[in-house]
Amino acid sequence: MSTHSNLRLAVVSDLHIGTKARAAELCPQALSDALVASRDEKFLDAFQRLATSEVFRSSGKIDALLVTGDITNSGHANEHARASEVLHFVADQLGVSHEQTFFVPGNHDVFWPVAKLEPQDFWRKYRYEPLHAEDNHFIYAAMQQDAIGSYHNSPYAVLRKTESLLVLGVNTAAHDGPAETPVHHGSISNETMKWIDETLSAYDNDLTLRRICLAHHHPLQYQNPTGNGKDFSALQNAESLLALLAKHRVEILVHGHRHVPQWTFRFDGNAGHPIAILGAGSFCAALENAWTGNVSNQFHVVEFCSRSTMSGGRGRLLSWAYDSLNGWKPSTKDLGIHGVRRFGDRRTEGELVLKIKSLLVPQCGNGVIRYPAIELAEPDFAFCDDELLVRACRRAAAEVRLDFVGEAGDIGERRSWLFVAKESS
Ligand SMILES: [Fe+2]
Repeated sequence: MSTHSNLRLAVVSDLHIGTKARAAELCPQALSDALVASRDEKFLDAFQRLATSEVFRSSGKIDALLVTGDITNSGHANEHARASEVLHFVADQLGVSHEQTFFVPGNHDVFWPVAKLEPQDFWRKYRYEPLHAEDNHFIYAAMQQDAIGSYHNSPYAVLRKTESLLVLGVNTAAHDGPAETPVHHGSISNETMKWIDETLSAYDNDLTLRRICLAHHHPLQYQNPTGNGKDFSALQNAESLLALLAKHRVEILVHGHRHVPQWTFRFDGNAGHPIAILGAGSFCAALENAWTGNVSNQFHVVEFCSRSTMSGGRGRLLSWAYDSLNGWKPSTKDLGIHGVRRFGDRRTEGELVLKIKSLLVPQCGNGVIRYPAIELAEPDFAFCDDELLVRACRRAAAEVRLDFVGEAGDIGERRSWLFVAKESS
């Protein structure tokens, strides 16, 4: 598979610019000396090192930056202004303009002091004022692009079309506020669902556009990384949204909210269309101490490779993890998400085993079979998840009396796996 793919989307989420950001330079408020000392790290310099590295640059240009909410911690004007500066810096490092930046608000992007005021109509009207201030030059400019809909008024969703992208953003926190349930879950009204259905329908016959959905709240009930803690904050009517997205052949849903990165690829049998779901985790929020070693701050690039409009997206998800000692490094599975996840081939493990066996059998007399020869004969394996393919290779090898030598790879690594004849006993 070429590393120079057709479309590359950078993803950041849940920056929580303010007192909950991990570095003092990401907080516009005055912090105590102790907090400044404990957060004295050059987070943005580290991101610049990643984005300008030869390995990163040589893998291709970035076509768009996706930002899935909670850019601030409490929605204050100074937090929004700093968040805008930080996102401008991130976009600059990636070579992306405000026109190529797509944003959806999260539940922390609302100005909560206003939310406490009466009458309720007042806060509903002004809660997003700091977000829309012109001081937020970068996010303000990104939100001024031609689009249908609105995040702060009905339908609480926005559709933007570019030359190559159709990006639906849904404000899943639109209903949230002090008068609502104390559990701040995500929700989408019937009115918004109807608007999404009707609006996307207009593009059903346009086969040139890549279809992306951005939402803040998580659509799946993920495992808690540290145990069985209850989570009531998911998007409550997620199944309906996912069905709508599959119906209109949306290829990927990107979300934030949970600060734990997640990657799921699922198939909607009713609509007959697959959808990738990326939980982006948090780019730069201070994470819970209990998560140390299990979760890290994350940055992602979704690469869509060769297009298969009717069958969904195909490509790779690349993920980097941050820690203050090492900066940005390829993520590992123990941090919630492996550095490379390939997607698009929908075959089951059993189907893959059968195919691999059929390719191995003619070569079994060779002693050593190199995996690249197998992928050359079956190029769609490039869109198989590494872990699934390694399992299938191991099973297929065993069934034709070969040993398989290989592990799921890392960013930049090739699949240099081997099938080796078993030693005769
Ligand atoms: Fe968040």
